[in-house]
Amino acid sequence: MAKKLMEIRNLKTQFHLKHTVVRAVDGIDLDVEEGQIVCIVGESGSGKSITSLSIMQLLPKPAGRIVGGTIRFEGTDLAQLSEKEMDTIRGDRISMIFQEPMTALNPVMRVGEQITEVLMRHRSISKVEAKAKAVEALRFVGVPRAENIIKEYPHQLSGGMRQRVMIAMAMVCEPKLLIADEPTTALDVTIQIQVLELMKKMRDELNTSIILITHDLGVVAEMADHVVVMYAGQIVERADADTIFEKPMHPYTQALLASIPSLHEEKEALYSIPGTVPSAGAFPSGCRFADRCVYKQPACVAQMPELREMDPGHWGRCILAGNGDAAV
Ligand SMILES: Nc1ncnc2c1ncn2[C@@H]1O[C@H](COP(=O)(O)OP(=O)(O)OP(=O)(O)O)[C@@H](O)[C@H]1O
Ligand SMILES: [Mg+2]
Repeated sequence: MAKKLMEIRNLKTQFHLKHTVVRAVDGIDLDVEEGQIVCIVGESGSGKSITSLSIMQLLPKPAGRIVGGTIRFEGTDLAQLSEKEMDTIRGDRISMIFQEPMTALNPVMRVGEQITEVLMRHRSISKVEAKAKAVEALRFVGVPRAENIIKEYPHQLSGGMRQRVMIAMAMVCEPKLLIADEPTTALDVTIQIQVLELMKKMRDELNTSIILITHDLGVVAEMADHVVVMYAGQIVERADADTIFEKPMHPYTQALLASIPSLHEEKEALYSIPGTVPSAGAFPSGCRFADRCVYKQPACVAQMPELREMDPGHWGRCILAGNGDAAV
């Protein structure tokens, strides 16, 4: 059995605003094994990004905070670490890549210096060694003429090249976990495929575990070993990728899969499920999807369904699922 790298239990992250409490992540459990690619899917506002920012301890302060649960990573609870302790993990054991590479890159620093800076922060190596490793990292991500590129500034590079540099920065310390939040959403298809290929290369050659957040179920089908479906701050279903695509149990997952647009449709057509996600400041007490669910029954709104294991490794939060009922 694969070794577990991270184990999140009952994670609760909230925003304490003046008049409301936003329950952005409301009690999620998430396991990541070594070398596993876990995709998190769900509509806008379901808590995907706040989950990843909670792991990274990069929540918008002071409103955003973890109010409960544990994030066990390599034996340590990240939720309990100080800012300083977390600094030693970020960029080294856990890295993150973003949709917009300029979020991670410094516009006034040469790309080589940016990569060597990450290395020298986490490793006691000389500048010369760091530079050699930076070139190596750029080669790993397929940057041609890496010796020349290290002298350039981000604005001198094409969008695709900037993506690669960002990934080189994220992988240079060979992290155990890479978190990618919508890394390819805004990219043209060719670059999108290249970025996905690079993430697979990290997994295959460095055994990096990856949490990949995406709206794109095509990307999920391409990448995921395990799929976690989030809705309104909760996990509503999780299973191996094949199971999710072949036997989705939750009506929400079924609706997501039914709303995959054909290749030629506009992206905006995604997730055209009638109704809207309930506000994170005012969740109903029963099933949070009930108002949009075609199988809704009185019992659905009476009480919050538990996340139950219906088949080995296949979990769902629906009173109907797994009972041979309508939702199956
Ligand atoms: N800085 C913030 N202050 C207050 N509420 C916030 C803040 N950031 C996020 N939220 C709320 O937390 C909830 C979860 O947001 P999150 O960004 O995790 O969604 P998401 O699943 O990543 O959505 P998207 O697909 O649009 O990126 C939402 O209700 C959102 O409005
Ligand atoms: Mg997000």
